[in-house]
This record gives sequence, C-alpha cells and structure tokens, in this order.
Amino acid sequence: MMSSSNPIERSFELAAGRCEDLTPLVYRRLFEAHPEAQKLFRSEGSESVKGSMLAMTIDAILDFAGERTGRFRMIAAEVSSHDAYGTPRELFIAFFGIIAQTLREVVGADWSDEIDTAWRKLLDDIEGFAAAQ
Ligand code: HEM
Repeated sequence: MMSSSNPIERSFELAAGRCEDLTPLVYRRLFEAHPEAQKLFRSEGSESVKGSMLAMTIDAILDFAGERTGRFRMIAAEVSSHDAYGTPRELFIAFFGIIAQTLREVVGADWSDEIDTAWRKLLDDIEGFAAAQ
C-alpha cells in the first residue's frame, strides 16, 4: 500500500488496514461521550444517515487537511443545517474529535507524534473554521 506523506491521510490509511468499517466504533464512542446525541437521530432508518454522515465528514476532513479542492466547505454548510437539526455547535465540533480518538484507538502503537501533532492542529483549525460560520 502507498503510504501517504500527509499525516492525516496516513492515519486513515493505517486505520483502514486494521478496521473495515469505523462507523460502529465512532458512534459507540460518540454516544458514550455525549449520550444526548443519540436522541437527535431518528430511532428508525437513521443507520444509513449515520454511515453517510461519517463518510462525508471524513471526505471533508481529508480535503480540509489536503488539497482544499472545495469538499471541505461542506463543514461550513453543515454548521447551519445542524443548527436546524437541533445539534448544538459544541456537539457538532466534538464529532471531529471523536473521529480522531477512534482512529487513535484503532491505529494503536503506529499513532506517531507526527500524526498526533497534525490531528491537534487540524482539530483547532476546524473549530476555528466552524466558529467563523
Ligand atoms: C455529534 C455531532 C452531530 C450530530 C448529533 C449530527 C446529527 C445529524 C442528524 C440527526 C442528521 C440527520 C438529519 C435527518 O434526519 O435528515 C445528520 C445528517 C448529516 N450530517 Fe450530521 N451530526 C453531527 C455532526 C456532523 C458533522 C461534524 C458533519 C460534517 C461536517 C455532519 C454532516 C452531516 C451530513 C452530510 C448529513 C446528511 C447525511 C445524509 O442524509 O446522507 N454531521 N446529522
């Protein structure tokens, strides 16, 4: 497998080699840390929303941390649609940190200082970007 020189991309590559689907791990962690998030999703038919929400968030993260072709702007657009879904701004932001913690757990000993530093900066930058909306 080609190893990316972008530490954020590399963290996703490492995780993909160890875990086929991050979705159950991410939402388990989200609902443990923020039980109030659970009731924001409809009890029926929300499994596909959860899967596509995570996939689109990861896609936006990779664009934000990489080429910034435009898919990262989804983060800004979703700030306002999530206001309408009743998702508090802090919870919206917290989702990115939950993804980082999940990756860290899956990647284990291969989570390098470089990856850690890149994620800390990314989470700060995303928070600033979302706050500016
Ligand atoms: C813990 C924080 C979050 C909660 C509780 C949350 C909640 C929700 C809910 C309830 C929906 C479904 C709305 C409906 O019924 O149609 C949804 C959809 C969606 N969310 Fe989130 N959200 C969170 C964070 C995020 C973040 C950070 C992003 C990306 C920047 C995002 C992107 C999306 C997208 C793209 C959809 C539409 C998915 C689809 O219908 O295919 N969400 N979210």
